[in-house]
Amino acid sequence: MIFNYNLFSHNFLQTGEELLTPTKIYTEAIKPLLHSNKIKAIAHITGGGLLENIPRVLPKHLAIHLNAAEMHIPPVFGWLASIGNITNQEMQRTYNCGIGLILIVPKSSANEVLELLKHKNDARLLGSVHARKEPEPQVVIDDVIFTQNLRNVQRNLLTPKRRVGVLISGTGTNLQALIDATQNSAYGVNAEIVLVISNKENVLGLKRAVDASIPHKVISHLNFKNTENPREAFDRAMTAELEAHNVDLICLAGFMRILSAEFVRRWNGNLVNIHPSLLPKYPGLHAQQQALDANPRDTHSGCTVHFVDEGVDTGAIIWQELVPILDNDTDDLLTQRIHKAEHYAYPKALRLLANERIHL
Ligand code: GRF
Repeated sequence: MIFNYNLFSHNFLQTGEELLTPTKIYTEAIKPLLHSNKIKAIAHITGGGLLENIPRVLPKHLAIHLNAAEMHIPPVFGWLASIGNITNQEMQRTYNCGIGLILIVPKSSANEVLELLKHKNDARLLGSVHARKEPEPQVVIDDVIFTQNLRNVQRNLLTPKRRVGVLISGTGTNLQALIDATQNSAYGVNAEIVLVISNKENVLGLKRAVDASIPHKVISHLNFKNTENPREAFDRAMTAELEAHNVDLICLAGFMRILSAEFVRRWNGNLVNIHPSLLPKYPGLHAQQQALDANPRDTHSGCTVHFVDEGVDTGAIIWQELVPILDNDTDDLLTQRIHKAEHYAYPKALRLLANERIHL
């Protein structure tokens, strides 16, 4: 017992915070759906966990198959399972394992419902409902995949957090999404933002860093315009600052400067960007307008989180989110909807990277 406690102690403080977090109430999130006739059943996963709450809303002849790989199991459950030597069955019978609410909807409405919920609420398609074959239980969760998922969470508890630097030039709404995801341990992102650099003064993104008590620095590219290689000199100043803060992963979040090849090579594999199109389509500036101008028009646009290489928006893709293009869309409207998707996609991609589920 004590042995386990020590093993996990470096991340225990954050887990302790999690234990003090009040139950999440989902009323506001699902209000827009309540009169839509699209919801067949709702299970709030409280005491009794997944195994006892879901059957309360299912007729006996049906079973639900949950995809254990899609569960974002928060660190506190990894810690509990280990310190208490708790079996998978007992975990699933006692705790929600990160799934606060289950909505059962017709297959044909799943995408529509997801569209309404996912970008704000981390909603995901978690499984499917089947005719139950006796003596199958009413909730079926693949044991091997659940164990793997739990092991990954436990490994993260023992792995130092990735130290992230975020580069911005403006509003920083993506920075905010990354701050929210890294400061709330329920997201299970094994990373912390240790530095925000802006190349512009007085931008809103800097205030977000101040409010979150994250060290920040303005390095203006204008200060380098009279040096011999201004771009490289500016980038070197950034590298020096990032190294001084022991940053090991950089997220570009609306950083409006082209980076030198030298900088890209220095951070190769640890430098990622978010772009408002489904790359490789529409790289570069005005990606949303490029999507709207395409003839014939695409049905979907979206956003891409990708590794940065020496080309413009050409690096390997980490995660993409689709956003439908509507008939009467304008640049502004599409941009707003893509922005929402970005705030979902960037934390998701950071989670994959920081939790070592993906690398270059
Ligand atoms: C985003 O649309 C992103 O795709 C692009 O720059 C914008 C930054 O927005 N690279 P914000 O500053 O994060 O609000």
